[in-house]
Amino acid sequence: MITMKNKVLLVGGGGREDAIARKILSSGAELYSVMKNRNPSIFSVSRKAFIHDELDVDSILKFALESGVDLAFVGPDPVLNTKLVDRLEEEGIRVASPSYEAARLETSKEFMRKFVERNSIPGNIEFKVITEQSEIAGLLEKSGKEYAIKPIGLTGGKGVRVMGVQLHTKEEAVSYAASVIEKDGAVILEERIQGEEFSLQVLSDGTNIAPFPIVQDFKRAYENDEGPNTGGMGAISDSNGGLPFIKQTVAEEALEIIRRIVFHMKDEGNPFKGVIYGQFMQVGDSPKIVEINARFADPEGISVLTLLEDDFVELMNEIVEGKLRASMKFREKASVLKYVVPEGYGSNPTPGDLEISTDPEPDDFRVYYAAVSGTLNNVKMSTSRALALVGLADTIPEASARVEENLWRIRGNYYMRHDIGTEEMLRRKKENVS
Ligand code: GLY
Repeated sequence: MITMKNKVLLVGGGGREDAIARKILSSGAELYSVMKNRNPSIFSVSRKAFIHDELDVDSILKFALESGVDLAFVGPDPVLNTKLVDRLEEEGIRVASPSYEAARLETSKEFMRKFVERNSIPGNIEFKVITEQSEIAGLLEKSGKEYAIKPIGLTGGKGVRVMGVQLHTKEEAVSYAASVIEKDGAVILEERIQGEEFSLQVLSDGTNIAPFPIVQDFKRAYENDEGPNTGGMGAISDSNGGLPFIKQTVAEEALEIIRRIVFHMKDEGNPFKGVIYGQFMQVGDSPKIVEINARFADPEGISVLTLLEDDFVELMNEIVEGKLRASMKFREKASVLKYVVPEGYGSNPTPGDLEISTDPEPDDFRVYYAAVSGTLNNVKMSTSRALALVGLADTIPEASARVEENLWRIRGNYYMRHDIGTEEMLRRKKENVS
């Protein structure tokens, strides 16, 4: 049991990292942060902040050693695609995030699909990795199926194009797949599946896992799930840890899939420690794997961290020591998160300034700061997501209303999806699955 006050390094400066930073602070630890933007909230709670390129491993290592940190956590996926975690560990710093090799579950879609396949883990979908542009048209012709066409590596949520959604003809599909091969040398085609998606995030110490409540993310920019895909416009979770339109057996099977992934990662010599975020789709009575990620989701990670009652730094220590508890405690509340973004977000964003009230937040509402600069009261938006507003209540529609009731706290020109978590939205979703 570690009793001394941890000095914790946190890499990343988005809304997700603001939620992590506040949990680290409320655990009584000292925070040392590295972020490419000067997030005013993370900055305000950091003992020391290093505003710097998050992919510059040597400089971050130097900052960590000079600051004397003893524990570290990495937020964003591009950082997990560097050797930062491995280098910190080589220097004797304990890290509650996955190694470069373990993070390949997210950083290579080819690795993930083949790993799931060779270990006979359920939930996989038909996929093909193609390296020759000349093969694409023939494959589409022969199979007659629709595919999601994806780069193999990280895409920031923006490289995936689905036939029948963003790709309207076979020619468009061939041309997009060919352009990915030209850029990356390979492309992955995954069978198109349809259904309600959900995100299941768990902590893993390499052997044991502890799940968070399941959450649904809203990727489309406009209301009624229309418009371009974004990093995520909001999220909902329910007070019982499930979702009203996801069958409990499907959520349980998804957890079993993650349990088996953790088992086989260790078995193959790459134990996974940190957060696994499985993005699943409910297809009939089964969960299908859409993606496996090696970090907290954004925004879903913000939702579950807001609900988490346990001490996050204790959990980080348990991950490092391989002694993770079997379950975590959460407030038994529904949550609805809505992102404040610049007007035109998703196509042609026009970022302005926002004024944020300093009145104390009630117990059932939080404001997290994302890609903004400035102060806690006055922020300048960038072209990305600005503020994550989270409402908590007994039901999802009430939590959605909680966000709306608190909008007076934010002044300025911005866009937000108001439909997230409304009664009408839930009714539509329940009808779709029945
Ligand atoms: N919720 C989308 C992501 O974090 O990748």
